[in-house]
Amino acid sequence: MRMYDVIEKKRDGEELSYEEIKFFISGYCSGSIPDYQASALLMAIFLKGMNQRETADLTEIMANSGDTIDLGAISGIKVDKHSTGGVGDKTTLIIAPIVAACGVPVAKMSGRGLGHTGGTIDKLEAIPGFKTGLSTEEFIRSVQKIGLAVAGQTGNLAPADKKLYALRDVTATVNNISLIASSIMSKKIASGADRIVLDVKTGSGAFMKTLEDSIKLAQAMVDIGERVGRKTVAVITEMDIPLGNAIGNSLEVIEAIDTLKGQGPEDLETVSFELAAKMLELGGKGDHENCRRLVSEAVKSGAALEKLKAMIDAQEGNHQVVSDYSLFGSANTQFDFVSPIEGYIESIKTDTLGIASVVLGAGRETKESSIDYSAGIMLYKKTGMSVKKGDVIATLYTNQPGKVPEAIEVMQQAFRFSAKAPEIKPLILALVDSHGVHRY
Ligand code: URA
Repeated sequence: MRMYDVIEKKRDGEELSYEEIKFFISGYCSGSIPDYQASALLMAIFLKGMNQRETADLTEIMANSGDTIDLGAISGIKVDKHSTGGVGDKTTLIIAPIVAACGVPVAKMSGRGLGHTGGTIDKLEAIPGFKTGLSTEEFIRSVQKIGLAVAGQTGNLAPADKKLYALRDVTATVNNISLIASSIMSKKIASGADRIVLDVKTGSGAFMKTLEDSIKLAQAMVDIGERVGRKTVAVITEMDIPLGNAIGNSLEVIEAIDTLKGQGPEDLETVSFELAAKMLELGGKGDHENCRRLVSEAVKSGAALEKLKAMIDAQEGNHQVVSDYSLFGSANTQFDFVSPIEGYIESIKTDTLGIASVVLGAGRETKESSIDYSAGIMLYKKTGMSVKKGDVIATLYTNQPGKVPEAIEVMQQAFRFSAKAPEIKPLILALVDSHGVHRY
């Protein structure tokens, strides 16, 4: 087989066989296929697309390109959750302890921030001492003991995706439904859960900007999951507005803890509790109504907060942070971003706000950058709210005062104001499962 012929076939819009996809992935991972040929094929896939069979084959081949985790030693139905990424998205920190407190084991591998989006592993590392680099044995032992572990992906989980993702990132081939679906699902399948709940974000802070594209991405991922016998459900949720009020690692962990205490922002609570209930449903805890009730009880009784403390202990962090937020440390510089006019916040470019938080130090500008855990943004006014001239819209936190003017400039580009209150979309827009699409 020649790589030239595989590229030519896809360039001409033809369907690739399993063997051709395998030839590409194996050759690219071993180094026998160079970057320039892999890039040409990625661009051909980007322009001509892949059908469901090709997408499922690509996923399976990438999932099996490295280690696969066997969670068989953990009893019960293991349900995983994955978010396609957003700004202020700290739902895993809330959902995982709730679901574990309700008796469904959570063995979750998470990622770091990517571009303007934050990552669960960076957030957890804001907790003093917290260890995210667990061996597979430590990871499984923790779930056996306390029903919960959230750790970084092992180095050799779906290495083909890692290599391909880095290439897509620099060849303008990220935003393709087949490529995103196979990238996400290859990692989910390799990490071994029986069932998967996907939080597919839609809007200005998400990879998919429109509801229709988000539904297509969700359908592609549900189809892949079902093909490999992993029941998969996708919830399409709003990411035109940041979720909750906190953006930045320590700030988000504190907001997640507040939510587990029943004192979190309403939008964050709504999305987190719905996703937690979906996980419980897939974990065999009864119908949706019953699962919603279990979620509320786990929060009201304090059981979910206790579970978070147990996870922090098990992963060597200081669980005192749950009651003493000063242990997170605070930024040496705070700056208020105020409204320039009287009116309403018409819209927020949520990805731009994510970039402002990266400028302040909350994310990485290059792969080598280190994170300032106390940097970030607290938003007090969001889309739809009325403001007076001079009202504080947000407070910026950083340990690099020199970065404030640049962050403010970015923030100014993110907000649009109007004289009339804009229409606000619901937070939960649709559900996609093997039976089809249910719009709310
Ligand atoms: N997240 C992933 O893991 N892969 C993609 O392609 C996009 C988002």
